[in-house]
Amino acid sequence: MTQPNEVPLQMRRNGFDPAEELARARDGEGVVRVETPWGLPGYLVCRQEDVRRVLADPARFSSALTPLRGAGALHPDELARMRAGQLIGLDPPEHTRLRRMLTSEFTQHRIRRLEPRIVEIVQTALDDLERAGRPADLMANFALPVPSLVICELLGVPYADRAGFQDRSAQLLDTSLSAEELTAVRREERAYLADLVARAQADPGQDLLGMLVREHADDLSTDELIGVAGQLLLAGHETTSNMLGLGILALLRHPDQLAVIREDPARVEPAVEELLRWLSISQSPPPRTTTTEVEIAGQVIPAGTLVICSLPAANRDSALVGDPDRLDVTREVAGHVAFGHGVHHCLGAPLARMEMRIAFPALLQRFPGLALAEPYEQVDFRVLSVVFGLNSLQVTW
Ligand code: HEM
Repeated sequence: MTQPNEVPLQMRRNGFDPAEELARARDGEGVVRVETPWGLPGYLVCRQEDVRRVLADPARFSSALTPLRGAGALHPDELARMRAGQLIGLDPPEHTRLRRMLTSEFTQHRIRRLEPRIVEIVQTALDDLERAGRPADLMANFALPVPSLVICELLGVPYADRAGFQDRSAQLLDTSLSAEELTAVRREERAYLADLVARAQADPGQDLLGMLVREHADDLSTDELIGVAGQLLLAGHETTSNMLGLGILALLRHPDQLAVIREDPARVEPAVEELLRWLSISQSPPPRTTTTEVEIAGQVIPAGTLVICSLPAANRDSALVGDPDRLDVTREVAGHVAFGHGVHHCLGAPLARMEMRIAFPALLQRFPGLALAEPYEQVDFRVLSVVFGLNSLQVTW
């Protein structure tokens, strides 16, 4: 058996591109043994076809058997309560039961009803950005407020609480935190969510939490409600905000492609898909654990082993698109895995897509002279995180 490699799961070349080691692993063996941020060795799967196979097969690649990162110190009871309702860490049939309660709220049809409100939120954020004056931090003044406000309204979370939950969310994704630090943030976030859920139970509103309380009082425990709320709140703003920030940075670095979206907003749809593919901000979905011996790309992997799918490597696989390292917002890219694949495919994908389709053209049209206000080499990328992104982005116009 080969020794684990030091493959930098999260590193990017030149800001955007997956590390060379990842590309080499994908174009070479396809699967390599690695050290993981979970403190256990595992196998990293890098090719588009293999990633899809793993994610489509929860019976052999389990999410529920994977230990929670840094949770070794938790008492089993507390751990079980923390995992309750966390869709992303469940397998069918528990996963199916919970996901079914939420799917109707996230269909394209349902999300389309939010469009006028999202347009309004984007326009207000643009007004605020203009008022902030140049140069301004695009993350703090636009990319973070838009998805935060959207998920707050959808879920029923007071927007006034944003400083606290935004800060804790970023920490929960930070792979440089020690197990003790991670446990402390998890406890703090749970206490916040427990309070939120208790208020919804006492007086259910017209939002998603209120709906879950009213319609699923008998089949959803309080711990599960807390888990669902936490996952939606975190996924709802952390991911889309980094796509907005990194997407704009990518377009500023490719002015010809930026012009395509600004001049014809109708072309934003394929552009968003290409940005999702090219940026692949989710470095990997949570690792799966093999339930039996499996073979991937000719490698035999024993039962009980962590398997990690590199989404950036898979989305830059030439089997998916030609010239995969080139950003081309005019191409029609089908089948990328930026939102995952299979039963855990991103629940919020229709919402994230709508936010991006509205926000990118609106920003580019409001500020035709949008430009970086700092040298590219000094841009503050957020590297050591489950979700790749930016800590800040100084822009002017
Ligand atoms: C799952 C990416 C936006 C809620 C996932 C997964 C990925 C992903 C890769 C799969 C995880 C797995 O296979 O284990 C993204 C990206 C986004 C985004 C790139 C933005 C551009 C959102 C939004 C929401 C959301 C806006 C909520 C409103 C979820 C939930 C799951 C999930 C609840 C778990 C689904 C399940 O396990 O059944 N997302 N996401 N995501 N996402 Fe997203």
